[in-house]
Amino acid sequence: MSETYRAAISGLGAYLPEKVLTNFDLEKIVETTDEWIRTRTGICERHVAASSQSSSDLALPAAQEALKNAGLTAQDLDLIIVATISPDMLFPSTACYLQKKLGATCGAFDMAAACSGFPYAIAVAEGFVKSGLYQNVLVVGAEAITKFIDWKDRSTCVLFGDGAGAAVVSRSTDGHGILASYLGADGNQSEILQIPAGGSMIPPSEESLRNGLHYLRMQGPELFKIAVKTMEQAVLEVLKHENLTVHDIHCLIPHQANHRILKAVADRLELPLEKIYINVDRYGNMSSASTAVALYEAVTKGAIKKGDYVVLVAFGGGLTWAANLIKW
Ligand code: ACO
Repeated sequence: MSETYRAAISGLGAYLPEKVLTNFDLEKIVETTDEWIRTRTGICERHVAASSQSSSDLALPAAQEALKNAGLTAQDLDLIIVATISPDMLFPSTACYLQKKLGATCGAFDMAAACSGFPYAIAVAEGFVKSGLYQNVLVVGAEAITKFIDWKDRSTCVLFGDGAGAAVVSRSTDGHGILASYLGADGNQSEILQIPAGGSMIPPSEESLRNGLHYLRMQGPELFKIAVKTMEQAVLEVLKHENLTVHDIHCLIPHQANHRILKAVADRLELPLEKIYINVDRYGNMSSASTAVALYEAVTKGAIKKGDYVVLVAFGGGLTWAANLIKW
């Protein structure tokens, strides 16, 4: 019986905090220029959460909009998964905070796969729905990541922004929906991108604070090469699963870390850049929220139509990488 089920996205939502920080604003904070940031990354501005806003606060309006667009209420949900690396607390999970704020009563847990969190969580939701176990799973990518940024470090602070995107993954029987997902990871490269302190390996201490170990650290140039390679690989893997080729893709929704990375992925895949949805210029890298917000915008703006083949692809800390192939 369960084999006839497919998991499809039935509603999308997004939320960006009000405050916008432009490259010109950053010029006043660190030694950088709008020109450097734009030419090296493609970023012009990013949104920043208010001091009172945690990740679950950003997740809430995105989730409410996704539920509304799916024609569902919080009571219809069977599970909530929040992908985040900037959780409200170490525990309880941000998903539990969101469950409370939504007024839902279902199970809830967080997914820690850094910038790949949204495609990872979509794959998990797909599994629950396809198996017949659940009917409606809420997946949210939510990050108040700027709270973990060292605003004195120009090599990282210009790159990141805050936001949230949400998708309801529901049972579908019309053949449309998620066709394949691919998950990859390499724990040997964990030091390339991390927030070293605050967990059980380096608990918070005066020394960890003094050394700034609670801030995000990144080896940018190394990551650049890996990002291009792993995103290309993940896209090819999900296409292979359905005997499709790059030419079949109508819209690629990639993680938005750097415009040059997206250009390099397009070149390697021989995919026209116009088929790639890009919003890194307005939001910067929102980690797990990036693909979620990009998917929401692509659908809202009409860049994705019924029957299109859509590929979500991301890479991030872990290292992790992932892709989902969706027949819209
Ligand atoms: N403004 C001005 N100069 C800067 C800045 C800045 N904001 N940041 C660095 N520089 C300087 C450096 O100090 C360096 O100077 P030097 O040559 O005198 O030493 C010079 O610019 C070049 O630095 P590079 O690091 O070589 O610059 P690069 O062209 O590689 O761009 C960047 C850096 C943008 C970080 C790029 O490597 C990149 O995008 N990497 C991938 C990042 C990424 O994908 N992150 C994903 C995170 S996902 C997650 O899971 C959270």
